[in-house]
Amino acid sequence: MKVTVVGAGAVGASCAEYIAIKDFADEVVLIDIKEGFAEGKAMDLMQCASLNGFDTQITGTTNDYSKTAGSDVAVITSGIPRKPGMTREELIGINAGIVKAVSASLIEHSPNVILIVVSNPMDTMAYLAHKATGLPKNRIIGMGGALDSARFKYRISEALGCPSSDVNGMVIGGHSDVGMVPLIGKAVRNSIPVSEFLSEERMNQIVEDTKVGGATLTGLLGTSAWYAPGAAVSALVQAIAQDAQKMFPCSALVEGEYGLNDLSIGVPCILGKNGIEKIVEIDLSDAEKTKLTESAEGVKKTNALLDGVLA
Ligand code: 2OP
Repeated sequence: MKVTVVGAGAVGASCAEYIAIKDFADEVVLIDIKEGFAEGKAMDLMQCASLNGFDTQITGTTNDYSKTAGSDVAVITSGIPRKPGMTREELIGINAGIVKAVSASLIEHSPNVILIVVSNPMDTMAYLAHKATGLPKNRIIGMGGALDSARFKYRISEALGCPSSDVNGMVIGGHSDVGMVPLIGKAVRNSIPVSEFLSEERMNQIVEDTKVGGATLTGLLGTSAWYAPGAAVSALVQAIAQDAQKMFPCSALVEGEYGLNDLSIGVPCILGKNGIEKIVEIDLSDAEKTKLTESAEGVKKTNALLDGVLA
């Protein structure tokens, strides 16, 4: 399997590192516009091969998309990250043009590529990719929910004082500080609903902490997070590479699912060799349905800012 990662910044390089360490891909191409940056990151990562025991070949290129030819999967992390106090939505002016151009360059050299969009505002960038490229909808995946769910599980395990591996939970809806929908009513500790261990107040705090998980880290780091985003992307790439038929919440183009249309938003998806194999419609409580619908309204408002880019 060949994977391209566009953007050799912190998220892209972390994604490449996790893919290499998991060793399920034959090669990873890192591409960036900054002269020598992707080449340097690739070389540094390859010098970990004997230490971390992987055979994946990582190469870097400065904006030469011919080097990405024949990619099975391409991860788009390019664009600017947010600074403390910014929302993801404020990045749209710069990132939309980048994502549109990058998508076209990737497809030119890899017509069968599956795109995974990470650049923010992610749901809107994924929607842009659908509208700008016309790729089949199963081949454009927005990565947000896998990251938000990891943060959700972290907060639950923190509250329970248990390993994250004992916890499961999912976040759907928009990848935004206000639009996320952590499904706390469905979260479990080893198949037992977490409501049997936690107060209503504590569960509500977990939900709120999850929603601002990215902003919390941006406040601490002075820029967007990268380890968990990179790990989350690598998990999606791995599910595709191994045709895992694994469920993740991903931003997918919905056409009637959950009563929603004409947007890309975080919903449960089965990932396999074809990308999104299936959008899964799970039973949601009335409150969960309302939150998802409100989240979709927020994403659509951001999508409306694309008009100039899509023209
Ligand atoms: C995050 O939530 C970068 O949107 C990403 O950290």
